[in-house]
Amino acid sequence: MKERILVTGGTGYIGSHTVVELQNAGYDVVIVDNLSNSHADVVDNIEQVSGIRPAFEKVDCLDFQGLEEVFKKYAGIKAIIHFAASKAVGESVEKPLKYYRNNLVSLINILELMPRYGVEGIVFSSSCTVYGQPDTLPVTEEAPIKKAESPYGNTKQINEEIIHDTVASGSPITAILLRYFNPIGAHSSALLGELPNGVPQNLVPYLTQTAIGIREKLSVFGDDYDTPDGSCIRDFINVVDLAKAHVVSIRRILEHKQDEKVEVFNIGTGRGLSVLELIHGFEKATGVKLNYQIVGRRPGDIVKVWANPERANKVLGWKAEISIEDTLRSAWNWQLKLRERGIQ
Ligand code: UD1
Repeated sequence: MKERILVTGGTGYIGSHTVVELQNAGYDVVIVDNLSNSHADVVDNIEQVSGIRPAFEKVDCLDFQGLEEVFKKYAGIKAIIHFAASKAVGESVEKPLKYYRNNLVSLINILELMPRYGVEGIVFSSSCTVYGQPDTLPVTEEAPIKKAESPYGNTKQINEEIIHDTVASGSPITAILLRYFNPIGAHSSALLGELPNGVPQNLVPYLTQTAIGIREKLSVFGDDYDTPDGSCIRDFINVVDLAKAHVVSIRRILEHKQDEKVEVFNIGTGRGLSVLELIHGFEKATGVKLNYQIVGRRPGDIVKVWANPERANKVLGWKAEISIEDTLRSAWNWQLKLRERGIQ
């Protein structure tokens, strides 16, 4: 029998790609999502890509009883991947309580329900934002946690602590915390990708919307940083590669291979790319010229961060594989497909 995995936020950007990879690996997936930042038709697209329709329940993880019904209805859930969260950095500064409530209470509800229903482990979506501006690069998992720049970032730090404390208190669960660097790109089918709500805040969705003419110009936030070309440097990780990191984490939990009850992994490529290099890489990979201008720095931006992914490479047996060219082409194909579908 297939092992059953619950994926919260499974119709979202990273969630939807992960559901497909879990299905490809032979898992039975149940999605819980409140559709606050995604659409129910993502379930159709997942089915089209994988050939398997995942179970879907429109439930908010803040709703303890609603969530408990899911555990009852789908007996035997073995592990959870918890993506469901609010993720806009700017909005979190304006509405901190929304972020603390959504992101903290959802996790608390899940952690309370897991032992009651015999769920063995959880994979949690964390972020390289917990490192702030690291003192040494590439950054390892041992680097100190820096004071968060935003309530959003703080929820990631607090959630990591909540998981550590819960496991330390004797809860019969294990956890893998994945610290993502900058996920970009889309599924090669162009049926799954990132669908931002309103004006995109992140670089690649803004870039592809500019390339297709929805936005007039991409603003590059600063070219006077202490980096070779003056723009910020990030570790851009393909979303399908990232999705696969979740599958190997789930397998590790279910096969009881963990060295510690809570393990932490950086999920990145190990290569830093500047914002300007990314823009030029996009132009080269797609043949599309981008209208961009250099503007002032964005408050709160980290200057440079990229991963040392060796622990994930060695321990999880996971490695980023998809090239940046293919990744940028996939983001562009997704944007073209959205236009074809009349969505954006
Ligand atoms: C941010 C968050 C991170 C979160 C991620 C996803 C911080 C410090 N990090 O990452 O925790 O997980 O968003 O929501 O807040 N840029 C432009 N023009 C644009 C947009 C972005 O030049 O229109 C630049 C930014 O200045 C930055 C780089 O592109 O240097 C990447 O920005 P972005 O995609 O927003 O991601 P992060 O800020 O790295």
